[in-house]
Amino acid sequence: MTSQAIAAVILAAGQGTRMRSARPKVLHPLGGRSMIAHVRATLAALAAAKVVVVTAPEGAAVVAAAAPATGVVQDPPLGTGHAVQAALPALGGFEGDVLVLYGDTPLVSEATLRAMLERRRAGAAVVVLGFRPADPAAYGRLVTGADGRLLRIVEFREASADERAITLCNSGVMAIEGRHLAALLGRLDNANAKGEYYLTDIVRHANEAGLEAGFVEGDAEEVFGVNSRAELAAAEAILQRRLRRAALENGVSMTDPDSVHLSWDTALGRDVTIEPNVFFAPGVSVADNVLIRAFSHLEGCMIESGATVGPFARLRPGARIGPEAHIGNFVEVKNGLIEAGAKVNHLSYIGDARVGAKANVGAGTITCNYDGFGKYRTDIGAGAFIGSNTALVAPVAIGDGAIVGAGSTIAADVPAGAVALTRAPQETRPDRAERFRERARARAKAAKGKS
Ligand code: UD1
Ligand code: CA
Repeated sequence: MTSQAIAAVILAAGQGTRMRSARPKVLHPLGGRSMIAHVRATLAALAAAKVVVVTAPEGAAVVAAAAPATGVVQDPPLGTGHAVQAALPALGGFEGDVLVLYGDTPLVSEATLRAMLERRRAGAAVVVLGFRPADPAAYGRLVTGADGRLLRIVEFREASADERAITLCNSGVMAIEGRHLAALLGRLDNANAKGEYYLTDIVRHANEAGLEAGFVEGDAEEVFGVNSRAELAAAEAILQRRLRRAALENGVSMTDPDSVHLSWDTALGRDVTIEPNVFFAPGVSVADNVLIRAFSHLEGCMIESGATVGPFARLRPGARIGPEAHIGNFVEVKNGLIEAGAKVNHLSYIGDARVGAKANVGAGTITCNYDGFGKYRTDIGAGAFIGSNTALVAPVAIGDGAIVGAGSTIAADVPAGAVALTRAPQETRPDRAERFRERARARAKAAKGKS
């Protein structure tokens, strides 16, 4: 394939009213990032030199989500052709290939766009991405001719019964030869059922001008467009299936893949095993041979080789679990380094902390990192032993090999090799249990008599 420059126009000026949301439609997330960011990432993979985003007024957040991109406002929105016209000045007479994509159609693959560009460079001035949906409903229909030619696109409203019987539909994605774009757009009018400037009409205009138009057929899943929350959930399901399939193909075992939720950037090593019901928010990387047990929630964290996490673990941003370390049930780690072979196995909160290599943190240990005003660090040395139900009041450091007795509240540093405990002395009264019970019974009886 030639390496001609690529520009892209992302249409995102539609109202998205069916989302019933204060947020612009294309900013709704899929696999942990906005729909428009997915489109932008695909364009980045194609090394698009220039990206223009067409938005409604106040579209700054939409443009930012597609960065780097130039934003143009289309107000009022008078159709898909009008939207691309609005982008023309920002394209500045770009002579390479221009892709037109929708911000609400986030799953179009790089491979499909490459196939379209190839067809473009094989002689078609306009290439349309067609697909055959299970229900062609109100999509525009592709009217094709001989030799893979595309003659025109007819919108459903204007289509005759014969045209409505065509099963090949318009996804909306196009590749257009840049040097013809302005002239083709200049021929558009709004003499149609919707009174809009239809981008689809450039196919007919290209043919009339003696240019070739063609099409590429994509699968219905990748051109799935999102107009409602239900469709957003359906798109998420498609993306999740893709992400899981890729993980399985790359050497990850999942007992019940359908119950594992991945993010667009989840990085999983080889021989990672994921038990059911694990949620990966963005920013997680997992090295080889890690076991992630059921019902864990992971975000912005790194897990190194051979570590075990969960069941029911919560790893928050900045957690780094070292090689062969163990994080057990109901343990939360935030902004904390758990070094090689260390164990935090039960019911603990480790925040803003380091747990040194091979240290053992007992059940119910809490790093008290926040005093209501500031956050402070806890440092636990290598090989230290923290007894169960210990509160470590930060800032505090426990030296290498030190031992903290169970039930302690540690607010001062413990030197390496020391034993520290803050327990109140225990009082034991032999044979007093029965006397205690008798008194308690009498007290209860007296209270009942009064009521
Ligand atoms: C369009 C196509 C139709 C195709 C369908 C696929 C036209 C005339 N019709 O129809 O052939 O089958 O998409 O989903 O192109 N937008 C703007 N500005 C506008 C109008 C639309 O930015 O003035 C954006 C919308 O935000 C949306 C996209 O363009 O992302 C498509 O607009 P929409 O109104 O959904 O087009 P359809 O009528 O569904
Ligand atoms: Ca639509």
